[in-house]
Amino acid sequence: AIHPLLLCGGSGTRLWPLSRKSYPKQFTRLTGEESLFQMSARRLAGEGFAPPIVVTATDFRFVVTEQLAAIETVAKATLIEPEGRNTAPAVLAGALVLAEQSPGALMLVAPSDHVIPEPERFREAVRAAVPAAEKGQLVTFGIRPDRAETGYGWLALSERPDADFRPVPQALKAFVEKPDADTARAMLEGGEHLWNAGIFLFSTDAIIAAFERYQPAMLEGVRKALAQAEIDLGFTRLAPEPWSGLQDISIDYAVMEKAPNLTVVPYAGGWSDLGGWDAVWRDSGPDDAGVVRSGPATAIDCRDTLLRAEDGQQPLVGIGLVDVIAVAMPDAVLVAHKDRAQDVRKAVAALKEQG
Ligand code: GDD
Ligand code: MG
Repeated sequence: AIHPLLLCGGSGTRLWPLSRKSYPKQFTRLTGEESLFQMSARRLAGEGFAPPIVVTATDFRFVVTEQLAAIETVAKATLIEPEGRNTAPAVLAGALVLAEQSPGALMLVAPSDHVIPEPERFREAVRAAVPAAEKGQLVTFGIRPDRAETGYGWLALSERPDADFRPVPQALKAFVEKPDADTARAMLEGGEHLWNAGIFLFSTDAIIAAFERYQPAMLEGVRKALAQAEIDLGFTRLAPEPWSGLQDISIDYAVMEKAPNLTVVPYAGGWSDLGGWDAVWRDSGPDDAGVVRSGPATAIDCRDTLLRAEDGQQPLVGIGLVDVIAVAMPDAVLVAHKDRAQDVRKAVAALKEQG
Protein backbone atom coordinates (compact mmCIF):
# COMPACT_ATOMS: atom_id res chain seq x y z
CA ALA A 1 0.00 0.00 0.00
CA ILE A 2 0.94 3.64 -0.41
CA HIS A 3 1.04 5.65 2.78
CA PRO A 4 -0.05 9.28 2.37
CA LEU A 5 1.76 11.88 4.46
CA LEU A 6 -0.51 14.89 4.71
CA LEU A 7 1.35 18.10 5.41
CA CYS A 8 -0.92 20.71 6.86
CA GLY A 9 1.14 22.77 9.25
CA GLY A 10 1.60 25.84 7.05
CA SER A 11 -0.16 29.02 8.09
CA GLY A 12 -1.06 30.15 4.56
CA THR A 13 -0.19 33.78 5.14
CA ARG A 14 -0.46 34.69 1.45
CA LEU A 15 -4.22 34.19 1.66
CA TRP A 16 -4.72 36.60 4.53
CA PRO A 17 -7.29 37.76 5.70
CA LEU A 18 -9.28 34.64 4.82
CA SER A 19 -6.48 32.38 6.01
CA ARG A 20 -5.53 32.98 9.63
CA LYS A 21 -2.83 31.71 11.90
CA SER A 22 -5.50 29.94 13.90
CA TYR A 23 -7.42 28.74 10.85
CA PRO A 24 -5.30 28.63 7.72
CA LYS A 25 -6.45 28.18 4.15
CA GLN A 26 -6.16 24.40 4.00
CA PHE A 27 -9.02 24.09 6.51
CA THR A 28 -11.31 26.72 4.97
CA ARG A 29 -13.76 25.97 2.24
CA LEU A 30 -12.15 28.07 -0.45
CA THR A 31 -13.63 26.56 -3.56
CA GLY A 32 -16.10 23.82 -2.67
CA GLU A 33 -18.11 21.94 -0.07
CA GLU A 34 -15.05 20.42 1.52
CA SER A 35 -11.86 22.02 2.71
CA LEU A 36 -8.67 21.66 0.68
CA PHE A 37 -7.36 19.42 3.44
CA GLN A 38 -10.38 17.12 3.24
CA MET A 39 -10.14 16.96 -0.53
CA SER A 40 -6.45 16.08 -0.27
CA ALA A 41 -7.17 13.27 2.18
CA ARG A 42 -10.01 11.93 0.07
CA ARG A 43 -7.89 11.99 -3.08
CA LEU A 44 -5.47 9.56 -1.45
CA ALA A 45 -7.92 7.11 0.05
CA GLY A 46 -9.43 3.85 -1.13
CA GLU A 47 -7.87 0.89 -2.82
CA GLY A 48 -4.11 0.77 -2.61
CA PHE A 49 -3.86 3.50 0.03
CA ALA A 50 -3.23 3.07 3.74
CA PRO A 51 -4.70 5.54 6.28
CA PRO A 52 -2.74 8.81 6.25
CA ILE A 53 -0.08 10.09 8.58
CA VAL A 54 -0.69 13.76 9.35
CA VAL A 55 1.92 16.34 10.34
CA THR A 56 0.50 19.54 11.69
CA ALA A 57 0.80 22.30 14.31
CA THR A 58 -0.61 22.22 17.85
CA ASP A 59 -3.33 24.74 17.02
CA PHE A 60 -4.76 22.60 14.23
CA ARG A 61 -4.85 19.19 15.90
CA PHE A 62 -8.56 19.20 16.64
CA VAL A 63 -9.56 20.72 13.29
CA VAL A 64 -7.58 17.93 11.64
CA THR A 65 -9.31 15.21 13.64
CA GLU A 66 -12.78 16.71 13.08
CA GLN A 67 -12.30 17.28 9.38
CA LEU A 68 -10.99 13.74 8.89
CA ALA A 69 -13.87 12.28 10.93
CA ALA A 70 -16.30 14.16 8.69
CA ILE A 71 -14.97 12.18 5.72
CA GLU A 72 -14.83 8.95 7.71
CA THR A 73 -11.06 8.83 7.96
CA VAL A 74 -8.89 8.12 10.97
CA ALA A 75 -5.22 8.98 10.71
CA LYS A 76 -2.69 6.24 11.37
CA ALA A 77 -0.68 8.82 13.32
CA THR A 78 -0.88 12.56 13.90
CA LEU A 79 2.43 14.26 14.57
CA ILE A 80 2.38 17.64 16.24
CA GLU A 81 5.21 20.06 15.55
CA PRO A 82 6.08 22.32 18.49
CA GLU A 83 6.73 24.99 15.84
CA GLY A 84 6.82 25.05 12.05
CA ARG A 85 10.30 24.25 10.70
CA ASN A 86 9.10 23.96 7.11
CA THR A 87 8.60 20.76 5.15
CA ALA A 88 11.98 19.00 5.43
CA PRO A 89 11.73 18.12 9.14
CA ALA A 90 8.00 17.37 8.76
CA VAL A 91 8.59 14.88 5.94
CA LEU A 92 11.49 13.28 7.75
CA ALA A 93 9.49 12.85 10.97
CA GLY A 94 6.69 11.20 9.00
CA ALA A 95 9.15 8.91 7.22
CA LEU A 96 10.79 7.81 10.47
CA VAL A 97 7.44 7.01 12.08
CA LEU A 98 6.32 5.05 9.05
CA ALA A 99 9.66 3.22 8.75
CA GLU A 100 9.23 2.02 12.31
CA GLN A 101 5.72 0.70 11.66
CA SER A 102 6.20 -0.66 8.13
CA PRO A 103 9.85 -0.88 7.13
CA GLY A 104 10.48 -0.05 3.48
CA ALA A 105 6.96 1.25 2.92
CA LEU A 106 6.15 3.73 0.15
CA MET A 107 5.18 7.20 1.30
CA LEU A 108 3.34 9.81 -0.76
CA VAL A 109 4.02 13.33 0.47
CA ALA A 110 0.95 15.45 -0.14
CA PRO A 111 0.53 19.13 0.56
CA SER A 112 -2.94 20.15 1.59
CA ASP A 113 -3.23 23.40 -0.35
CA HIS A 114 -3.70 22.01 -3.84
CA VAL A 115 -6.68 21.74 -6.12
CA ILE A 116 -6.68 18.60 -8.29
CA PRO A 117 -10.01 18.31 -10.09
CA GLU A 118 -9.57 14.76 -11.46
CA PRO A 119 -8.58 12.59 -8.51
CA GLU A 120 -8.75 9.28 -10.39
CA ARG A 121 -6.44 10.55 -13.09
CA PHE A 122 -4.06 11.72 -10.41
CA ARG A 123 -4.09 8.32 -8.71
CA GLU A 124 -3.21 6.81 -12.07
CA ALA A 125 -0.06 8.95 -12.17
CA VAL A 126 0.75 7.86 -8.63
CA ARG A 127 0.41 4.21 -9.61
CA ALA A 128 2.70 4.83 -12.58
CA ALA A 129 5.31 6.10 -10.11
CA VAL A 130 5.32 3.01 -7.90
CA PRO A 131 7.94 0.85 -9.72
CA ALA A 132 10.50 3.68 -9.71
CA ALA A 133 9.86 4.40 -6.04
CA GLU A 134 10.27 0.72 -5.23
CA LYS A 135 13.69 0.88 -6.90
CA GLY A 136 14.78 3.66 -4.56
CA GLN A 137 14.01 6.67 -6.74
CA LEU A 138 12.62 9.89 -5.30
CA VAL A 139 9.68 10.47 -7.60
CA THR A 140 8.29 13.91 -8.42
CA PHE A 141 5.20 14.79 -10.46
CA GLY A 142 5.60 17.25 -13.31
CA ILE A 143 3.05 19.77 -14.46
CA ARG A 144 3.22 21.41 -17.89
CA PRO A 145 4.10 25.05 -17.15
CA ASP A 146 2.09 27.90 -18.68
CA ARG A 147 3.83 30.88 -17.12
CA ALA A 148 7.23 31.84 -15.73
CA GLU A 149 6.22 31.12 -12.14
CA THR A 150 8.93 31.89 -9.59
CA GLY A 151 6.96 30.47 -6.66
CA TYR A 152 7.37 26.85 -7.76
CA GLY A 153 10.10 24.30 -8.21
CA TRP A 154 11.06 23.41 -11.81
CA LEU A 155 12.11 20.00 -13.09
CA ALA A 156 14.73 19.63 -15.84
CA LEU A 157 13.72 16.73 -18.07
CA SER A 158 16.15 14.32 -19.67
CA GLU A 159 13.81 13.92 -22.65
CA ARG A 160 10.67 15.69 -23.81
CA PRO A 161 7.46 14.04 -22.60
CA ASP A 162 5.45 12.34 -25.35
CA ALA A 163 2.93 14.43 -27.24
CA ASP A 164 0.01 13.15 -25.17
CA PHE A 165 1.88 13.91 -21.98
CA ARG A 166 1.21 10.44 -20.65
CA PRO A 167 2.39 9.60 -17.12
CA VAL A 168 5.56 7.81 -18.26
CA PRO A 169 8.35 8.03 -15.68
CA GLN A 170 11.71 9.42 -16.77
CA ALA A 171 14.97 10.31 -15.05
CA LEU A 172 15.26 13.90 -13.94
CA LYS A 173 18.31 15.96 -14.85
CA ALA A 174 17.95 18.56 -12.16
CA PHE A 175 15.58 20.13 -9.67
CA VAL A 176 15.48 23.94 -9.47
CA GLU A 177 13.52 25.34 -6.54
CA LYS A 178 11.97 28.83 -6.84
CA PRO A 179 14.09 30.28 -9.67
CA ASP A 180 14.47 34.00 -10.30
CA ALA A 181 12.28 35.57 -12.99
CA ASP A 182 14.87 35.37 -15.79
CA THR A 183 15.65 31.72 -15.14
CA ALA A 184 11.94 30.90 -14.99
CA ARG A 185 11.35 32.66 -18.32
CA ALA A 186 14.22 30.78 -19.97
CA MET A 187 12.93 27.46 -18.66
CA LEU A 188 9.42 28.20 -19.89
CA GLU A 189 10.68 29.11 -23.36
CA GLY A 190 13.08 26.17 -23.60
CA GLY A 191 10.24 23.65 -23.20
CA GLU A 192 12.43 21.17 -21.34
CA HIS A 193 11.16 21.84 -17.86
CA LEU A 194 8.04 21.03 -15.93
CA TRP A 195 6.72 22.48 -12.69
CA ASN A 196 7.21 20.44 -9.57
CA ALA A 197 3.76 19.62 -8.21
CA GLY A 198 5.13 19.49 -4.67
CA ILE A 199 3.95 15.89 -4.33
CA PHE A 200 6.53 13.15 -3.88
CA LEU A 201 6.57 9.37 -3.81
CA PHE A 202 9.48 7.46 -2.29
CA SER A 203 10.26 4.59 0.02
CA THR A 204 11.05 5.42 3.63
CA ASP A 205 14.45 3.79 3.05
CA ALA A 206 15.30 6.05 0.11
CA ILE A 207 14.28 9.30 1.76
CA ILE A 208 15.91 8.49 5.08
CA ALA A 209 19.11 7.60 3.20
CA ALA A 210 18.94 10.95 1.38
CA PHE A 211 18.59 12.83 4.68
CA GLU A 212 21.45 10.81 6.11
CA ARG A 213 23.62 11.95 3.23
CA TYR A 214 22.55 15.59 2.81
CA GLN A 215 21.06 16.56 6.19
CA PRO A 216 22.73 14.41 8.85
CA ALA A 217 22.21 16.96 11.64
CA MET A 218 18.52 17.14 10.86
CA LEU A 219 18.24 13.37 10.89
CA GLU A 220 19.79 13.27 14.33
CA GLY A 221 17.57 16.10 15.62
CA VAL A 222 14.34 14.62 14.28
CA ARG A 223 15.24 11.19 15.67
CA LYS A 224 15.69 12.80 19.07
CA ALA A 225 12.43 14.74 18.81
CA LEU A 226 10.65 11.46 18.10
CA ALA A 227 12.43 9.47 20.79
CA GLN A 228 11.44 12.10 23.37
CA ALA A 229 7.96 12.66 21.93
CA GLU A 230 4.97 12.72 24.23
CA ILE A 231 1.81 10.82 23.38
CA ASP A 232 -1.16 12.97 24.30
CA LEU A 233 -4.75 12.00 23.43
CA GLY A 234 -3.38 9.93 20.57
CA PHE A 235 -1.33 12.80 19.18
CA THR A 236 2.43 12.42 18.96
CA ARG A 237 3.92 15.64 20.26
CA LEU A 238 7.45 16.03 18.96
CA ALA A 239 9.84 17.16 21.68
CA PRO A 240 10.30 20.97 21.55
CA GLU A 241 13.94 21.19 22.48
CA PRO A 242 15.49 19.13 19.66
CA TRP A 243 12.81 20.40 17.27
CA SER A 244 13.53 24.10 17.77
CA GLY A 245 17.19 23.49 16.91
CA LEU A 246 16.33 22.13 13.45
CA GLN A 247 17.06 24.17 10.36
CA ASP A 248 13.95 25.81 8.89
CA ILE A 249 14.12 24.53 5.31
CA SER A 250 11.86 22.92 2.76
CA ILE A 251 12.34 19.38 1.43
CA ASP A 252 12.94 20.92 -2.00
CA TYR A 253 16.09 22.78 -0.93
CA ALA A 254 17.16 20.30 1.74
CA VAL A 255 17.07 17.15 -0.38
CA MET A 256 15.50 17.38 -3.85
CA GLU A 257 17.95 19.93 -5.27
CA LYS A 258 20.84 17.72 -4.16
CA ALA A 259 19.78 14.12 -4.74
CA PRO A 260 20.86 12.31 -7.94
CA ASN A 261 18.17 9.60 -7.81
CA LEU A 262 15.23 11.66 -9.08
CA THR A 263 12.42 10.55 -11.36
CA VAL A 264 9.53 12.55 -12.75
CA VAL A 265 6.10 11.36 -13.80
CA PRO A 266 4.37 13.91 -16.06
CA TYR A 267 0.84 14.75 -14.96
CA ALA A 268 -1.51 16.24 -17.52
CA GLY A 269 -4.59 16.63 -15.36
CA GLY A 270 -5.65 19.87 -13.73
CA TRP A 271 -3.54 21.04 -10.82
CA SER A 272 -3.17 24.26 -8.96
CA ASP A 273 -1.51 25.41 -5.80
CA LEU A 274 -3.72 28.03 -4.24
CA GLY A 275 -0.64 29.77 -3.01
CA GLY A 276 -1.95 33.32 -3.27
CA TRP A 277 -4.97 35.41 -4.23
CA ASP A 278 -3.79 35.61 -7.84
CA ALA A 279 -4.03 31.81 -8.01
CA VAL A 280 -7.49 31.85 -6.43
CA TRP A 281 -8.55 34.41 -9.01
CA ARG A 282 -7.13 32.31 -11.87
CA ASP A 283 -8.68 29.11 -10.52
CA SER A 284 -12.16 30.49 -9.86
CA GLY A 285 -13.06 30.94 -13.52
CA PRO A 286 -12.97 34.70 -14.15
CA ASP A 287 -15.83 35.98 -16.33
CA ASP A 288 -15.32 37.65 -19.73
CA ALA A 289 -14.06 40.80 -18.08
CA GLY A 290 -11.72 38.77 -15.89
CA VAL A 291 -13.80 39.45 -12.79
CA VAL A 292 -14.28 36.98 -9.95
CA ARG A 293 -16.84 37.82 -7.29
CA SER A 294 -17.97 35.92 -4.26
CA GLY A 295 -20.42 36.72 -1.51
CA PRO A 296 -22.26 40.07 -1.58
CA ALA A 297 -19.79 41.69 -3.97
CA THR A 298 -20.63 43.95 -6.90
CA ALA A 299 -18.27 44.88 -9.73
CA ILE A 300 -19.00 47.90 -11.89
CA ASP A 301 -16.71 48.36 -14.90
CA CYS A 302 -13.97 46.26 -13.36
CA ARG A 303 -11.38 44.19 -15.15
CA ASP A 304 -9.15 41.29 -14.02
CA THR A 305 -10.22 41.79 -10.47
CA LEU A 306 -11.20 39.63 -7.51
CA LEU A 307 -13.88 40.91 -5.12
CA ARG A 308 -14.60 38.63 -2.20
CA ALA A 309 -17.07 39.41 0.56
CA GLU A 310 -18.47 37.02 3.15
CA ASP A 311 -22.02 35.75 2.93
CA GLY A 312 -24.21 37.51 5.45
CA GLN A 313 -21.68 40.28 5.95
CA GLN A 314 -21.25 43.81 4.63
CA PRO A 315 -21.43 44.27 0.86
CA LEU A 316 -18.32 45.06 -1.16
CA VAL A 317 -18.48 47.27 -4.26
CA GLY A 318 -15.70 47.87 -6.77
CA ILE A 319 -15.91 50.54 -9.47
CA GLY A 320 -13.51 50.93 -12.36
CA LEU A 321 -10.91 48.63 -10.85
CA VAL A 322 -8.22 46.93 -12.91
CA ASP A 323 -5.98 44.14 -11.54
CA VAL A 324 -7.19 44.50 -7.99
CA ILE A 325 -7.66 41.95 -5.23
CA ALA A 326 -10.18 43.02 -2.58
CA VAL A 327 -11.06 40.64 0.23
CA ALA A 328 -13.40 41.80 2.97
CA MET A 329 -13.70 39.81 6.18
CA PRO A 330 -15.73 40.98 9.20
CA ASP A 331 -12.59 42.08 11.01
CA ALA A 332 -10.06 42.79 8.29
CA VAL A 333 -9.91 44.00 4.69
CA LEU A 334 -7.23 43.46 2.07
CA VAL A 335 -6.90 45.69 -1.00
CA ALA A 336 -3.92 44.89 -3.22
CA HIS A 337 -2.65 45.06 -6.77
CA LYS A 338 -2.97 41.61 -8.31
CA ASP A 339 0.71 41.56 -9.29
CA ARG A 340 1.63 41.91 -5.63
CA ALA A 341 -0.37 38.94 -4.40
CA GLN A 342 2.77 37.17 -3.18
CA ASP A 343 3.54 40.14 -0.92
CA VAL A 344 0.47 39.57 1.20
CA ARG A 345 2.69 37.58 3.53
CA LYS A 346 4.49 40.87 4.25
CA ALA A 347 1.21 42.36 5.46
CA VAL A 348 0.86 39.55 7.92
CA ALA A 349 4.42 40.10 9.13
CA ALA A 350 3.80 43.86 9.46
CA LEU A 351 0.58 43.35 11.43
CA LYS A 352 2.35 40.93 13.72
CA GLU A 353 4.98 43.56 14.44
CA GLN A 354 2.33 46.15 15.25
CA GLY A 355 0.94 43.62 17.74
N1 GDD B 1 3.42 20.18 8.84
C1 GDD B 1 3.94 21.21 8.20
N2 GDD B 1 4.91 21.95 8.83
N3 GDD B 1 3.50 21.51 7.00
C2 GDD B 1 4.05 22.57 6.36
C3 GDD B 1 5.04 23.38 6.94
C4 GDD B 1 5.49 23.05 8.27
O1 GDD B 1 6.34 23.70 8.88
N4 GDD B 1 5.36 24.37 6.07
C5 GDD B 1 4.59 24.15 4.98
N5 GDD B 1 3.79 23.07 5.16
C6 GDD B 1 2.81 22.51 4.26
C7 GDD B 1 1.90 23.57 3.66
O2 GDD B 1 0.70 23.67 4.43
C8 GDD B 1 1.65 23.03 2.28
O3 GDD B 1 0.55 22.12 2.31
C9 GDD B 1 2.91 22.22 1.93
O4 GDD B 1 3.53 21.94 3.18
C10 GDD B 1 3.88 22.92 0.98
O5 GDD B 1 4.35 24.12 1.55
P1 GDD B 1 4.29 25.51 0.78
O6 GDD B 1 4.85 26.54 1.69
O7 GDD B 1 2.92 25.74 0.21
O8 GDD B 1 5.34 25.25 -0.40
P2 GDD B 1 5.41 26.05 -1.77
O9 GDD B 1 4.09 26.05 -2.44
O10 GDD B 1 6.06 27.36 -1.55
O11 GDD B 1 6.43 25.13 -2.64
C11 GDD B 1 6.27 23.72 -2.78
O12 GDD B 1 5.13 23.41 -3.57
C12 GDD B 1 5.18 23.90 -4.94
C13 GDD B 1 3.93 23.49 -5.66
O13 GDD B 1 2.81 23.80 -4.93
C14 GDD B 1 7.55 23.17 -3.47
O14 GDD B 1 7.52 21.77 -3.39
C15 GDD B 1 7.67 23.64 -4.92
O15 GDD B 1 8.76 23.01 -5.54
C16 GDD B 1 6.40 23.29 -5.67
O16 GDD B 1 6.46 23.77 -7.02
MG1 MG C 1 2.11 25.77 -1.72
